[in-house]
Amino acid sequence: MKMHKNVRKSLKKLSLPTPIQKYFSSQNWDVDLGSNTNPFGGDFSNYPDVMQLDLKRLYLKRILSLNPPPSSNVVLDENNVLFTAGSMEGIDLLLRAFADPNQDLVCIPSPTFSAYAHWSIINELQMKTMPLLGKNLDQVDIESIIKLNPKLLFICNPNNPIGTLIPHATLKKLCQSLNGFVVVDEAYIEFSDQYSSLFYLNEYPNLIILRTFSKGWGLAGVRCGAVIAHKTIIDTLRYIQYPFSVSIPSQQAVREVLMTPEKVFETWEKIKKMRRDLYTELSQRRNIIKVFESQTNFLMVALHNFEEIKKSLEQEKIHVLDCSSELRQSIRVSIGTEEQNQKFLKIIAG
Ligand SMILES: Cc1ncc(COP(=O)(O)O)c(C=O)c1O
Repeated sequence: MKMHKNVRKSLKKLSLPTPIQKYFSSQNWDVDLGSNTNPFGGDFSNYPDVMQLDLKRLYLKRILSLNPPPSSNVVLDENNVLFTAGSMEGIDLLLRAFADPNQDLVCIPSPTFSAYAHWSIINELQMKTMPLLGKNLDQVDIESIIKLNPKLLFICNPNNPIGTLIPHATLKKLCQSLNGFVVVDEAYIEFSDQYSSLFYLNEYPNLIILRTFSKGWGLAGVRCGAVIAHKTIIDTLRYIQYPFSVSIPSQQAVREVLMTPEKVFETWEKIKKMRRDLYTELSQRRNIIKVFESQTNFLMVALHNFEEIKKSLEQEKIHVLDCSSELRQSIRVSIGTEEQNQKFLKIIAG
């Protein structure tokens, strides 16, 4: 397995972890007396499958059939996918693999998902935040990002916590113009009308997609995400990922939802309709300064009586995300059940 040429300098001489060497070698054992596991244990006595070939093929088949663009020639296979312990692991792996501490720069739009900055700090990387622009905070200053020449640029699309989308033309221009990697986190793509950046992955060797089973797929407790990228990027991550980070029960749960996805697909449609309804309802209330049109399963809402409403929500034990440090008097509210949304609306009043 070859490492990508832009790997962290200190990792260039690293070998693959032994289990990965073992399972990716062409040998095939009938009897494994080389792993020191307990042969009298139960269903989970062996280590999980690290190759996950069938699961990766099944996953790609599913996601490539969802909301494709009118024409696409994209060709992806199991070599383009790495399952991770949630997409959080994917974020950390990318930083650890490709950015040199105290040297490389990571570019992060603002406001966005806090984990990119969190793990950049842990990895001792330089960081530059770029304000999102436009009244819907769905634009970036492409030229300024190019000038920064970051080793990695994170774009959450649709963006958490705003809910809006960066257009494909912007993402493509960034991929074309940057020497570094463009990481597009599509954690909420299942709730979006815009097709995925997956469909032009073949065109840009520096494009990396992050996905998760925690949101649309309804499996946050299972801890499974995916990095989808060119083979050398995926191979490089294999050198530094814990070899067995996706457990047998996780793989089972993911397989199950991918084999019979109809129920979960229905929930996406339901949530999208509920989001539209909540948006319409909130837009008419006097207590609301602005609701952002969202392509996710949450809404960003700026409130006139912010402190008062926040207090009432706390009193009623309704948890929403306080985003006021990033956007004045704003909260992010997830689309809940009908009953939960009504409880929330009652407190917003107006
Ligand atoms: C944009 C974004 N990416 C990634 C994650 C993390 O997902 P996971 O549960 O797969 O680690 C979240 C969770 O809130 C998120 O909002």
